[in-house]
Amino acid sequence: MKLVTPQTTPINGQSIRIEGISKTFSSHGGTMLAVDDVALSVRPGEFLAIVGPSGCGKSTLLQIIAGLIPPTSGRVFLGDKDVTAQPAHMVYLFQQYSKSLLPWMNVEENVMFSFTHREQLSKSAARDRCHEYLQMVGLTAFHSYFPWQLSGGMQQRVAIARALAAEPHALLLDEPFSSVDALTRLDLHALMLDLWTQKRFTAVLVTHDVDEAVFLADRVAVLSHRPGRIVDIVDAGMPRPRLPVTTHQDPRFIAVRNQLLARLLTKPDAADVPAV
Ligand SMILES: Nc1ncnc2c1ncn2[C@@H]1O[C@H](COP(=O)(O)OP(=O)(O)OP(=O)(O)O)[C@@H](O)[C@H]1O
Ligand SMILES: [Mg+2]
Repeated sequence: MKLVTPQTTPINGQSIRIEGISKTFSSHGGTMLAVDDVALSVRPGEFLAIVGPSGCGKSTLLQIIAGLIPPTSGRVFLGDKDVTAQPAHMVYLFQQYSKSLLPWMNVEENVMFSFTHREQLSKSAARDRCHEYLQMVGLTAFHSYFPWQLSGGMQQRVAIARALAAEPHALLLDEPFSSVDALTRLDLHALMLDLWTQKRFTAVLVTHDVDEAVFLADRVAVLSHRPGRIVDIVDAGMPRPRLPVTTHQDPRFIAVRNQLLARLLTKPDAADVPAV
């Protein structure tokens, strides 16, 4: 995909601070500890990935960071703002683009929807902003298409443009690249890094895919099996620019990936798992 880089103003992301977050769900007559005492700091404009086994509480943690569900205990701050007490300007990008785009709106309307309900902008200013982001994701020519007239990868690019057009202080990504084919995924990784370099938003990416985490992130936090606890934070820090072929072959990339895989493949010690 050939991207045209327009003149753009950085969003400048804010820090995220997670203090002692735990979450217990009550369902089916019992309780279940999903996330256990997670503390984590994300620097302004940092790209942090969270990896962990299925069901360990990654989405739960991300939804708590977003303020979508309350924690059972602990607090989340975006900059100085306590997210657990008041809403903050963050955007959550879901795995399933087909469920997040509004099918009755075309591409342009979908993107504009993300900011026109919270910002008073003239029609032309709104359209300019929309087209800045559509240009960044290479979809200007498709502005009048409906989501169902686009490929899966194109739909996810619309979802990315929509998320960023809201100019959030932080972007929370819940496996947004796992529903597309391997080549499109590499394309979207390059796009995400390009956008992040231009806009400098703070990003927290949840993924199963260790290669994806090392390729995109500055640091990678590893969660244990449920209940999710942070068991490691690894400095990925691959040199930039990151390129699909060369970065994946870099000895440092391979070393960090192997370190993370070894951590993830360690089976939990039965004595280490609290009763729920
Ligand atoms: N609303 C809910 N009510 C009850 N239990 C829930 C709820 N949401 C999540 N859980 C439970 O919390 C645990 C963690 O779920 P979560 O979706 O956070 O895992 P995950 O790490 O994102 O998994 P995956 O990688 O498969 O997406 C699971 O055991 C799940 O059943
Ligand atoms: Mg999940």
